Amino acid sequence: MTVDAGTWSMGDTEIIARAVVEAPSVHDTQPWNLRLPDHSAELEERLEFAEPGPDPLRADRLISCGTALANLELAIRVLGNRARTTVLPDPHRPELVARIETLGPSTPTSRDLRLYAAISHRRSHRESFADIPVPAETLADIVAAAGEVPEVHVRLLAADEATALAHVLAYAAEARRRYPHYQREMFSWTSHWQPRGNSEVVTTWNATLDEAGAAGKALVTTDVPDTDSLAAAIARESVLLFSAPSSSPADLVRVGAAVERAWLAAVDARLSASVLTHPLRVEDAGARLAEMLDLPEPPLVVLRVGF
Ligand SMILES: Cc1cc2nc3c(=O)[nH]c(=O)nc-3n(C[C@H](O)[C@H](O)[C@H](O)COP(=O)(O)O)c2cc1C
Repeated sequence: MTVDAGTWSMGDTEIIARAVVEAPSVHDTQPWNLRLPDHSAELEERLEFAEPGPDPLRADRLISCGTALANLELAIRVLGNRARTTVLPDPHRPELVARIETLGPSTPTSRDLRLYAAISHRRSHRESFADIPVPAETLADIVAAAGEVPEVHVRLLAADEATALAHVLAYAAEARRRYPHYQREMFSWTSHWQPRGNSEVVTTWNATLDEAGAAGKALVTTDVPDTDSLAAAIARESVLLFSAPSSSPADLVRVGAAVERAWLAAVDARLSASVLTHPLRVEDAGARLAEMLDLPEPPLVVLRVGF
């Protein structure tokens, strides 16, 4: 992080940096750099994670930068600033994901204060939720918090659409099962809806490195769930789908900001949540889900919320 002398106070810097560090990111990589020049803020994508050629994690890194952006905006506003965000402001600096300028003093809204207060309580909850329905007005509040980010579409999965998501999750798990390289499971596809979370059937434990230098077969799960029971579990929960008009970097950043605002609104309502993106990135899984649900664009993020 870089701070110019004579700009933000040490206390402000601490608050801003802490909010950004607490944002969720793909594989917890925190793929961003924060700069605080001249009482403004800049968020950059850390390019050292980029893989040459097609980079399968690029979309999730940009979405992760968006979650950090949401926290950054909240911290700056809670510190009493009116702020203006420009996403991808400089074509000559493509790594510059967003710039936030401060435009003078301003009192934070109660929504800003509540979402900011939720930042330090947010965690991924990768297990099934209690069998208690989330009230419709709470879901509306969560969708409204995300809806403040332009261009992003947020949609609540209807109970009779759970089968489509279950099919796509099972499809992604099956597709990965065919390739031993991908059998290492950092976040299993379907465990989010299981009572004991990630504890699926583990058949191999072998932490040797593969030819790419990764922990190739660190943890292998071979359990592809029964689609009917998975669909029934999904139908009992509240699931939000996030999409954008395109998969341009700017749209992906906005999706991340919308996801984080929804997640924080859920936490503010005493709910837990987790996100899933990995299964949507497997082969044509995202497009399949869009087709089954008759959506114009493939969903980019699944966010499940519950008690
Ligand atoms: C863009 C993005 C994609 C993610 N994809 C997944 C996923 O597919 N499965 C999963 O279990 N967690 C996923 N996560 C959650 C991260 O793994 C999690 O936020 C991170 O490990 C930090 O943990 P925390 O959320 O408990 O703070 C994703 C997070 C982001 C921001």
